[in-house]
Amino acid sequence: MSRPIRIVFVCLGNICRSPLAEGICRALAESRGVGHRVVVDSAGTSGEHEGEAPNPSSIRVAAAHGIDIRAQRSRRLRVADLQSFDVVVAMDRSNLRNIERLGPVPADRLVLMRDFEPDASNQEVPDPWSYGPAAFQEVYEILARAMPAFLDYALKMGPRHD
Ligand code: 4NP
Repeated sequence: MSRPIRIVFVCLGNICRSPLAEGICRALAESRGVGHRVVVDSAGTSGEHEGEAPNPSSIRVAAAHGIDIRAQRSRRLRVADLQSFDVVVAMDRSNLRNIERLGPVPADRLVLMRDFEPDASNQEVPDPWSYGPAAFQEVYEILARAMPAFLDYALKMGPRHD
């Protein structure tokens, strides 16, 4: 059998959106019985919150859905990640531009999260930082709606061969 598919979710600070995405993706893969086929990580394009745990509101909304993200720690996305991950997932267009500035990624392996949400009202997962719990709840709901189709895509893409 081929090696697991390596997925990294990317936002700006890696304390609000991408830690939630990481937790939701892993939980979904496990619930589908394909946990062993994926390696899930997250990172931020800014190193500003390096080493920090996720935002308390992200921890709370994840916990409300039975997902524990407390052990995650923020880290900055590195150039080497663009080679070592099979799929890089940006939360918004600004993240996407920052990733592209860091280095080349094959077009079908750099994706926008909300492109996988059925009937998305918008293409970006909004930055909830400095907003209240309702903003984090909205982020959770967007991610939960988008994740099934994203996971299908990642499993279909499989490991890269370059
Ligand atoms: P995230 O949210 O990118 O979803 O982790 C943010 C976290 C920190 C900042 C902005 C957004 N910040 O400006 O420090």
